[in-house]
Amino acid sequence: MELIDGKKTSKEIREEIAAEVAQIVAAGGKRPHLAAVLVGHDGGSETYVANKVKACEECGFTSTLKRFEDNITEAELLAVVDDLNNDPDVDGFIVQLPLPKHISEEKITEAINPKKDVDGFHPQNVGRMTIGAPAFISATPQGIVDLIQRYKIETKGKHAVVIGRSNIVGRPMSVLLSQKGIDCTVTVCHSRTANMKELCLQADIIIAAIGKPGFVTADMVKPGAVIIDVGTTRVTDPTAERGWRLKGDVDFQNVAPKCSYITPVPGGVGPMTIVSLMKNTLLAGKKAIYKD
Ligand code: GUN
Repeated sequence: MELIDGKKTSKEIREEIAAEVAQIVAAGGKRPHLAAVLVGHDGGSETYVANKVKACEECGFTSTLKRFEDNITEAELLAVVDDLNNDPDVDGFIVQLPLPKHISEEKITEAINPKKDVDGFHPQNVGRMTIGAPAFISATPQGIVDLIQRYKIETKGKHAVVIGRSNIVGRPMSVLLSQKGIDCTVTVCHSRTANMKELCLQADIIIAAIGKPGFVTADMVKPGAVIIDVGTTRVTDPTAERGWRLKGDVDFQNVAPKCSYITPVPGGVGPMTIVSLMKNTLLAGKKAIYKD
């Protein structure tokens, strides 16, 4: 069994990005600029956004954090999005999800200019990705593809089982894995799948993104399978300094000895998600996806 080290791989990619930014700046170009919008004080969102700002510094990007209380109205937040759409200095921006219940995430996502949608959540980017056209690709699925490719894991003709059908991870993941060049045969499982264990046992690659800690157990895994764990549930742990720890969707202790490769939680997919956002921001700065 080989551990897939997302921390190390993301650091390598971050250094590649920083080197490219240094070249751009040396040639008189502009540093890529990422803005993040954070509404409210959700603990997970605070951590994600703080990590995104830190990653911007490490890559040599400019970053702007716009914070709002959770009583901001939908109209006010739409005006913030409009300002960012029209700010010529901002190359890309994200609105951290989840948003308070009184704000439609769909409306906000659709209001973002697709050319600045470095999260890759706008329907235009999702649609373009689906037909294989240049697009901003959602960060977690892109990070997983990068991990698989950097570890030279064979995907051609392999059976990948994606557990979870979220718009952010499961669904785009299933599309990417079936694309030309990756060439997996893909099964998407979800909460209503009847024969989950049987399907998982047929998988050469399992992507667990269902948000249920320890969901994938050893009896669901074929010997030698590749296991990618996207889960990051906070579970209470009185022995941890913060009183909680992150637990993945895979029963790591019992699954790890059975498989060929596995991502740990933390230190697997998580750091790759952030660096993929940095990659998208660099692409936005270079106008590499949308030319004008
Ligand atoms: N909430 C959880 N993951 C993400 C992400 O990748 N982007 C945004 N905007 N919100 C999130």
